[in-house]
Amino acid sequence: MTEVIRSAEALREKVAGWKRAGALVGVVPTMGALHDGHLSLAREARKQSDRVIVTIFVNPMQFNNPEDLKKYPRDEAHDLALLEADGVDVLFAPGPEEVYPDGFASKVTVSGVSEPMEGAFRPGHFDGVATVVTKLFGMTQAGRAFFGEKDWQQVQVVQRLVRDLNIPTRIIPCPTIREDDGLAMSSRNVRLTAAERAVAPALHREMQAAAAAIRGGTAPDAALGAAREAILAAGFASVEYLDLRDAETLQTATSLDRPARLLAAAALGEVRLIDNIAV
Ligand code: PAF
Repeated sequence: MTEVIRSAEALREKVAGWKRAGALVGVVPTMGALHDGHLSLAREARKQSDRVIVTIFVNPMQFNNPEDLKKYPRDEAHDLALLEADGVDVLFAPGPEEVYPDGFASKVTVSGVSEPMEGAFRPGHFDGVATVVTKLFGMTQAGRAFFGEKDWQQVQVVQRLVRDLNIPTRIIPCPTIREDDGLAMSSRNVRLTAAERAVAPALHREMQAAAAAIRGGTAPDAALGAAREAILAAGFASVEYLDLRDAETLQTATSLDRPARLLAAAALGEVRLIDNIAV
């Protein structure tokens, strides 16, 4: 049975009991509309912890676009059934007033890694992520937190945050889970029309082609330019960014001396897709 808890105080009591018994607590922070990517995080959490909390909170502070917040898919009953099937101990699903009570006045800002790409195209997004993640770590007191590498920049922001603020939660990045045709799983995929869904795998396909070209010696600018054109030709409306970056600092990379990552965001109809791969 997965217990649903909505208040921070009830969660604190539950976790205190677990900790008295010596349990290691793992948390998977999510915004719900769970898919196999989230469930793979919950399974990894189950392997690496004694007790597992999945949080579901559609965090208004990280949405720079009110329409995106309004249209974000929500289905708690279905999510709960999936978590029960996976043996998750607690679903922590607080309301907005529990997370941001009257008078709430704090904000966590991580500079550097949060600034390019998602930070540039979604102003304020990572302040919202960093603030809510800090709160979720405080509320769950988890020793380990499991994040999907699909949001590579988010993982770097959260890693920086826990180091800088001495938060005793170890971040465990987990591989992106993909559909058979390569499309990275995302809660936003359900908003694609059938025609858009058919086009969507082009993003990952062209990223792979660019990564192979760069590994083969093609100059990054040329490889990325060709990939950008191919993504647009496939039917995407725009490519916000398609960048080769240092995997950790997220500075622009011009060579492969250090681990590098290709990261992209592109719009398909009304849906914004992001993806990243190792080069
Ligand atoms: O990746 C997400 O779903 C969200 O950004 C997170 C980490 C749950 C914070 O709201």
